Amino acid sequence: MAHFLNPVDITALPAWPALHAQRQAMQHFNLREAFASDAQRFERYSLESCGLFLDYSKNLIDEQSLALLLQLAEQAGLSQAIGALFEGAEVNASERRPALHTALRRPVGQPLYLQGKDLMPQVHQVLQQMTELVARIHNGLWRGYSEQAITDVVNIGIGGSFLGPQLVSEALQPFNQKGVHCHYLANIDGSEFREVTAQLNAATTLFIVSSKSFSTLETLKNAEAARAWYFAQGGSESGLHRHFVAVTSHPQAAIDFGMRAENIFPLWDWVGGRYSLWSAIGLPIALTIGMSNFKELLAGAYCMDQHFLQAPLARNMPVLLALLGLWYGSFWGAQSHAILPYDYYLRNFTDHLQQLDMESNGKSVRQDGSPLHTPSGPVIWGGVGCNGQHAYHQLLHQGTPLIPADFIVPVVSHQPLADHHQWLYANCLSQSQALMHGKTLAEAAAELRAQGLDEQDVQRLAPHKVIPGNRPSNTLILERVSPRRLGALIALYEHKVYAQSVLWGINAFDQWGVELGKQLGRQVYQHLQGQDSGQPLDASTAGLVSFFRNRHRG
Ligand code: F6P
Repeated sequence: MAHFLNPVDITALPAWPALHAQRQAMQHFNLREAFASDAQRFERYSLESCGLFLDYSKNLIDEQSLALLLQLAEQAGLSQAIGALFEGAEVNASERRPALHTALRRPVGQPLYLQGKDLMPQVHQVLQQMTELVARIHNGLWRGYSEQAITDVVNIGIGGSFLGPQLVSEALQPFNQKGVHCHYLANIDGSEFREVTAQLNAATTLFIVSSKSFSTLETLKNAEAARAWYFAQGGSESGLHRHFVAVTSHPQAAIDFGMRAENIFPLWDWVGGRYSLWSAIGLPIALTIGMSNFKELLAGAYCMDQHFLQAPLARNMPVLLALLGLWYGSFWGAQSHAILPYDYYLRNFTDHLQQLDMESNGKSVRQDGSPLHTPSGPVIWGGVGCNGQHAYHQLLHQGTPLIPADFIVPVVSHQPLADHHQWLYANCLSQSQALMHGKTLAEAAAELRAQGLDEQDVQRLAPHKVIPGNRPSNTLILERVSPRRLGALIALYEHKVYAQSVLWGINAFDQWGVELGKQLGRQVYQHLQGQDSGQPLDASTAGLVSFFRNRHRG
């Protein structure tokens, strides 16, 4: 589609200079005053969709800035680009592919044609294949080499073949169906392998080798180690296929590894790794929560898909989050964005968003190869509250950088305990309040005087107690962490990332930057082994290789 091959340059759109002027006009914009002068601010800047409530009133926006941001989106063709994503346009121009993760959550009876072929029968066929595997394992019908039922599943995969499944299967632990335990092996680190397998019995363990490409070094090395471990534990050659299944778009490589064709779950090149948890890559999720809950997860994401497609831009949650991110990155100098879930079950959410956002939008050329002249994706960081409050929130409150934050919290806890959840919820709200409200010098001094300090100490201490405030945040509230709500939440961020990529004109679906590290990793490995890679090393890397070779034992 021409739009993706010739992206518009947002800096050349009429709304861009107007936004610059607006930013200047807002030099002294103050959130405290904005709330004081507008009793409707919360109602004006909040909305609900798919069981998610978004309060974006604590942002550095007014009617004019929001109107200009929306004009920018219209001028950039965002509405058309949203439709194009769902229709299978080649949004991944460098690899000449569509990105059709939305097809994975499309209900039965809604065909989707790509090059004249309806994709949906294969999507639902794989869901059926998953249903059968999950049922056989849950009902104890899938037996290992010694005829024992499977009790443990190890997902071997990395990046998108790990982070999404781990996030969801652990977040939805309260929906655990049949007590099958899922474990994850991602890194190429013997310690991780030993610690994970130490808890396992080969006779009752199933390994899922999850790799779209079936060529990822970490995954293949772990799969080989798992196969060796299986044999060392007494597993039989004839029983190997009962302990290894694969999810991949390269089935022959999995067959060569020792899997049976019927135990290979297909994946398609129109699904990006970091968008793949909705496919058979989500098998560990389905094994944890059961297929009907997995379908609820898909339904939640589908609801957000429909919202993204149909809601006007001004009431479109992913679009609003995208525009706010662009506003801070391009006009307020923000370079990072904190994701702060206040829920134990969402503890891996930030990790998943790091790959989703940074691997997608960590780009500096546009779809047509021309340089991007505005900042693209920010650093995504954060973690579970309240732990962060006692670690890095200090920087959010009093550090020099402006760091927008998303607070995410459920109303209902799965594990109510005394008044813990009321305290957790209160902390979440009070953090965004503190970021917005801050504390002036006069307020700090008055507080110290009220505590009875003498004037000299008041003057000495007050500047340290000033909290600048005026720091922006969004608050996202879920009724509780359920399959449906979580599906909607993850899809919300997927679409935010896509909307931003359209505004910047970049490709959210390739990741060429990862490749150089892979190439050089192979060369350095050869040097560590004392082999000539044919490529001379720089002095630093050569020195570090020598250090290893001189000291390494075993
Ligand atoms: O990190 C690069 C990457 O290609 C990710 O995009 C992907 O999720 C991950 O590696 C794993 O890839 P695969 O599923 O092909 O093993």
